[in-house]
Amino acid sequence: MAKGLRLVLFGPPGAGKGTQTRLLSGHLEVQAISTGDLFRSNLQRQTPLGLRASEYMNQGILVPDEVTIDIVLEKVMSLNSDDGFILDGFPRNPIQASALEEALDRRSRPVDLVIFIDVPDEELVRRLGGRLMCRNCQTPYTMEEDGQPEGAANRVCDSCGGDLYQRDDDSPAAVSKRIEVYHSETLPVLDFYRDKGLLARVDGVAAVEKVHNRVLKQIQRVSKTEDRE
Ligand code: AP5
Repeated sequence: MAKGLRLVLFGPPGAGKGTQTRLLSGHLEVQAISTGDLFRSNLQRQTPLGLRASEYMNQGILVPDEVTIDIVLEKVMSLNSDDGFILDGFPRNPIQASALEEALDRRSRPVDLVIFIDVPDEELVRRLGGRLMCRNCQTPYTMEEDGQPEGAANRVCDSCGGDLYQRDDDSPAAVSKRIEVYHSETLPVLDFYRDKGLLARVDGVAAVEKVHNRVLKQIQRVSKTEDRE
């Protein structure tokens, strides 16, 4: 598999972007950049950025572009030009997509592939209503019927020992707003990448490992194309 792949993981809230990004960044040995995790870790440290972002996040709306774009591009551009990356949660509107394209064009290193994890709204609501997240490393967990998180005894993160909590923006009102914002502001990004021939759709309704394999299959197609060139 090609090294230094530049991927965007795209999809609605709760599609499994974070879950798949974690699996992929280990597999591909590339850095993951998640805007949501970035904002939440800033909030935990009570930085001005985190406090400002949380005002928007708690309402389920997008953090303004003038806050978001510079922070993400600074991270992307701080990588070596040969390094790959996975963007999780960015770009989230056409303005962000154009800003990313412009920045990467300056290095002649465009995005290789945009993977769209497609999951219907009813399933998103179900997943987000039952999600717990590690306060420390932000690994997501799913609550089972008895209210206990799968794979994490005593509500303690299996990866790092951090405590698990429910995100403020996973309340029913915020989830419904996030899905609405996804449809009105974020979905047009699909056309942006479809027009450039970079889009690969993956059905996100299946076990995590199965979705991971579907994602890998799409990545292998790009890698093989690159190897041939
Ligand atoms: P962000 O943190 O990016 O949230 P999101 O996009 O709404 O996505 P989530 O993290 O909720 O879900 P996910 O797709 O990562 O799914 P996960 O793997 O956790 O953004 C939060 C907020 O920050 C935004 O609302 C906005 O305010 C702001 N923000 C972020 N980026 C921004 C930007 N670029 N511009 C402006 N504002 C921005 O999985 C969900 C659940 O499902 C988990 O419980 C998981 O265990 C489970 N699950 C995962 N895969 C499966 C599967 N295959 N089957 C069953 N369950 C599964």
